[in-house]
Amino acid sequence: MSAAPSRPTDATLPPREAAAFDAWLAATVARYVPPLVFAEVRKGVQALSSLYVERRREGRLGSRATDGEGKRAALASFYAPLHLLVAHAAARAFLAPPNGTTPRRIVDLGCGTGAAGAGVALAFARPPAVLAIDASGWALGEAQRTHRAFGLTGRMRRGTLPEALPRALPGDCLVLGWFLNELGDAPRETLLAAIEASCARGASLLLLEPLARGVAPWWDAAARRLSRAGVTSHEVKIAPERPDWIERLDDAAGLDHREVGARVLCRPEESR
Ligand SMILES: C[S@@+](CC[C@H](N)C(=O)[O-])C[C@H]1O[C@@H](n2cnc3c(N)ncnc32)[C@H](O)[C@@H]1O
Repeated sequence: MSAAPSRPTDATLPPREAAAFDAWLAATVARYVPPLVFAEVRKGVQALSSLYVERRREGRLGSRATDGEGKRAALASFYAPLHLLVAHAAARAFLAPPNGTTPRRIVDLGCGTGAAGAGVALAFARPPAVLAIDASGWALGEAQRTHRAFGLTGRMRRGTLPEALPRALPGDCLVLGWFLNELGDAPRETLLAAIEASCARGASLLLLEPLARGVAPWWDAAARRLSRAGVTSHEVKIAPERPDWIERLDDAAGLDHREVGARVLCRPEESR
């Protein structure tokens, strides 16, 4: 397993993608505010922060995270942009070496608003098509908008994982961004077994979870298990130039995302 990088990885998006990112964020904010006001989105940010850190044992994280417009606005306009930047940096650092092979398809599991899948797709000079899978219809609608905003070819599939996992083959890259921690022990173990089998067949993988150990106490066991299929464990940290909207929400909510990161499990694409 590799050690954490000693300084933040470069968080910069290429100019065209950076312009698309700004336009995507501005359009997302404009869809929620109005009718919401800033304070309602700030409350949504705080509610999600508390849900994922202090109240996660109460269960049903997926549905509770989207049970109100304030939380939906916070997911789409605050957490998703940060996830996209971290996923992009992780993919550039560990998945998409210069002159490496590009996957044919990204399968974004628990896609939420599509941030992780889009961030990974944009790490390749010719972004692959994205198949986005989520149990939430609201999330899939947002993911479709995200794909369009970045000019990605996307398909949406509503389904519950692990049952909805398609059979992944070489050329498929499985992306799981901040999703696996939402599953209970049994579905998580079933999904990890299916991911191990997919990687053993030649699929590539980028799995991201928060740096905070308490969120994913199963991390080391999962890393050991997937290492049998060529998966390596890393950390990524970036110091993004926070968009004004995110800086304002950070300040108002008492949070600090000047530096953000993730634990990463990665298996790069094999050369074909
Ligand atoms: C934290 S959000 C995902 C974040 C997203 N991947 C990103 O990068 O921003 C977790 C997502 O997992 C979805 N989800 C939770 N349990 C699920 C399950 N069993 N099957 C499919 N989707 C699920 C939720 O609907 C939610 O959209």
